[in-house]
Amino acid sequence: MDNDIERVLYSREEILQAAARLGKQLTTDFKDKKPIVISVLKGAILFTVDVIKEMDVYAELDFIDISSYHGGTESSGQIDLLHDLGTDIDGRNILIIEDIIDTGRTLKYLIDLLKQRNAAEIKVCTLLDKEEGRAVDVKADYIGFSVPNEFVVGYGLDYKELYRNLPYVGVLKPEVYTS
Ligand code: IMP
Ligand code: MG
Repeated sequence: MDNDIERVLYSREEILQAAARLGKQLTTDFKDKKPIVISVLKGAILFTVDVIKEMDVYAELDFIDISSYHGGTESSGQIDLLHDLGTDIDGRNILIIEDIIDTGRTLKYLIDLLKQRNAAEIKVCTLLDKEEGRAVDVKADYIGFSVPNEFVVGYGLDYKELYRNLPYVGVLKPEVYTS
């Protein structure tokens, strides 16, 4: 897989450091709030595992699978709910964990859904924030790294379902998705 990567953006060590930094802040901010941590499948799973171990608070964990990409490198704008939560979130404090926020459409969809279901508070933690890609007005409260407007893979992020298990975040060589 390393041969398909043009350059490494964030190493495993840097990501673990970011998770520790954010986890410390989250520990303070979610003290006594008993949040439900909602990890957005599949991309956020690796980062979620790192962050929650750094959060010293009582917290529940749930998963939701929302897809907006359909295999390419551009957002399709169409959002599908592939797997719903198993928890009643009425009146609960929520921490969403995402892999990357690009156009923001996926996050907006999720926030609207949680609001409809009466969540008390919704905060967002993302490994990567691609601010330049934003098409709708949403923002993360906790950010690992701000990334340039390039297609990145690894540490949960995929291209056609591959590279999620790469232990770092990197930029794919253009020939991988043009060929
Ligand atoms: P948004 O709805 O455009 O904000 O896109 C969010 C979702 O698109 C993320 O959860 C990712 O699954 C995917 N995505 C956006 N940018 C990238 C990227 O650079 N690499 C891989 N997946 C991406
Ligand atoms: Mg995703």
